[in-house]
Amino acid sequence: MENLISLVNKLQRACTALGDHGEESALPTLWDSLPSIAVVGGQSSGKSSVLESIVGKDFLPRGSGIVTRRPLVLQLHRIDEGREYAEFMHLPRKRFTDFAAVRKEIADETDRETGRSKQISSVPIYLSIYSPNVVNLTLIDLPGLTKVAVEGQSDSIVQDIENMVRSYIEKPNCIILAISPANQDLATSDAIKISREVDPKGERTFGVLTKIDLMDKGTDAVEILEGKAFRLQFPWIGVVNRSQADINKNTDMIAARRREREYFANTPEYKHLAHRMGSEHLGKILSKHLEQVIKSRIPGLQSLISKTIIDIETELSRLGKPVATDAGGKLYMIMEICRIFDGIFKEHLDGVRPGGDKI
Ligand code: GDP
Ligand code: NA
Ligand code: MG
Repeated sequence: MENLISLVNKLQRACTALGDHGEESALPTLWDSLPSIAVVGGQSSGKSSVLESIVGKDFLPRGSGIVTRRPLVLQLHRIDEGREYAEFMHLPRKRFTDFAAVRKEIADETDRETGRSKQISSVPIYLSIYSPNVVNLTLIDLPGLTKVAVEGQSDSIVQDIENMVRSYIEKPNCIILAISPANQDLATSDAIKISREVDPKGERTFGVLTKIDLMDKGTDAVEILEGKAFRLQFPWIGVVNRSQADINKNTDMIAARRREREYFANTPEYKHLAHRMGSEHLGKILSKHLEQVIKSRIPGLQSLISKTIIDIETELSRLGKPVATDAGGKLYMIMEICRIFDGIFKEHLDGVRPGGDKI
């Protein structure tokens, strides 16, 4: 039986691929109700680094200043075997096996929308990665929150970024990965500030503490990691990403992950927490959580899909037959896709027995 997350991934892609047909159908609502995970935090807090660590691959533009300037919707698909590859939705027939080329395409595609400026755009880039080394997940990388506009940016950029980030994380189905750097006071964390605003009880926020290796000598993050400094429903997870020097030296991800594991296992302060620290653990926890969330939403998704089918049928009959227009053709496709998902979800639902989580 197909994995639930990859099922929702497909539905998500179908919605977006076919989604540019105006406001008239229920598709935008369907898209909004699909669970996803968005990464938020201040600029250079380590958001892109965390995503790369979860994926275990170098493929994102990273560094100081505003690098991420469009949302990146990243769908991870676990494959059983074979060579890993990436695909962009805007380049449907091109398989990338060179991840440096993926990074370049993200940068180029960002520039295509924004010009070579430091402006931002809310139009997402969709990227799928197929690999035996990933867990099934959908993650959204977002531009970092800032305090001031820099040269070449409009004065409204600070607010524009905040609004864009909020538009993603305010959705009740959005799981928030709130990234705070350990070498700054948690009280000043942009991630905590904005996630608390949209999720006051911390019911869908995962706190991630980066740059633990960069803390001042004599200080440590134990209070935060044990949840004593700032309480969330889920345990805090600490990570050690690659430093800029590591990146410049081309330290590979395997080595970086091993070093991260050793860091937590061998630092006396963190030894007792080591089993629930690090990027690998974070990836597993998120995938498990996402799967649970999706499972709990199947009935809701299913009725939404049924409603979408009805809406589209109404729309098609309004358009009259035969529908030769592009819009009509798309609607047919969406309806077909919804029907397929309707069937699959029904099957899943039948497979879920009370008390057991077989799917
Ligand atoms: P973003 O702007 O939030 O996406 O941040 P990036 O992932 O681009 O990281 C900004 C800079 O911080 C890069 O130079 C990273 O190498 C560095 N960095 C991120 N996380 C860590 C960490 O855990 N430890 C160290 N030493 N450097 C980090
Ligand atoms: Na950055
Ligand atoms: Mg970034």
